Amino acid sequence: MSTVPPIPAHLLEIGDLERASIEALLDLAMVMKARPHGFVEALRGDTVVCYFEKPSTRTRVSFAAAAERLGMLPLLLRPDELQLGRGETIEDTARTLSRYASAIVVRTFAQETVRRLAATSSVPVINALTDEHHPCQALADLLTLRERFGRLEGLRVAYIGDGNNVARSLLEAAALVGIEAVAACPPGYEPALEGATIVRDPLEAAAGAHAVYTDVWVSMGDEDEDARVAALAPYQVDARVLAAARADAVFMHCLPAHRGEEVTAEVIDGPQSVVWQQAENRLPTEEALLLALVTRRWEP
Ligand code: CP
Ligand code: NVA
Repeated sequence: MSTVPPIPAHLLEIGDLERASIEALLDLAMVMKARPHGFVEALRGDTVVCYFEKPSTRTRVSFAAAAERLGMLPLLLRPDELQLGRGETIEDTARTLSRYASAIVVRTFAQETVRRLAATSSVPVINALTDEHHPCQALADLLTLRERFGRLEGLRVAYIGDGNNVARSLLEAAALVGIEAVAACPPGYEPALEGATIVRDPLEAAAGAHAVYTDVWVSMGDEDEDARVAALAPYQVDARVLAAARADAVFMHCLPAHRGEEVTAEVIDGPQSVVWQQAENRLPTEEALLLALVTRRWEP
């Protein structure tokens, strides 16, 4: 007897998902990617609030586009447009928004903020990036890897650079689906994650990898920029690092990128780069996520 993969009430971090739930979500995302205009009646008349306290190109626009494809009204809001910016509590905001919207998508600083919203909201809360986690990015990255290699189990992914929100969600997702993940980070910049495999040498991490992944050295909200750049300089992904990976390895980056810092232009603009496919896959994975969390079903 097959059991239905659990659907979490909220997606605050990758740990809210089980392996079977990730697989169901990726399956649904593939169906939605193949039929971009096939689901416009699915949530017709519903609203999704997208509240962003930090800049965003991909997440903000892909959620708005995903909502449109489901027939939802996406309401994009910044702090200065809500009473939250004037001191209304997170809890009162969540109670209010839950009465208008079917889902709340939030990009903020502290993970505690999304936890407090979710604790009070009666509709799903989706983390669109906090200082600690970026689960939506990791889901799109898994879809990208599955499309490229036809499987996830047994792949090896090397994350090189700052052990930030993106690294943490990627490593958590990898562990759940049977990807061997290794991170190369300087001392003091390791991802906050129990049991992660951390090395110091980027070439050692890249050896035998199916994917080499990096992200910016200075994330939104980070301070001490000079110290970060100095510590992370030996962790640039260049042609030599990528050449240490498998011949068919892909280069991955969540974007936005800084050519000449964490990655060379030659690598990110080269033939092994799948960064635009990663960006593209944000839309169908978020569309699948919205549909599943709002309807509590994995089928369209
Ligand atoms: N990768 C990502 O989340 O990009 P944005 O900051 O542009 O949303
Ligand atoms: N680590 C980056 C990711 C941006 C999508 C940041 O938090 O700024």
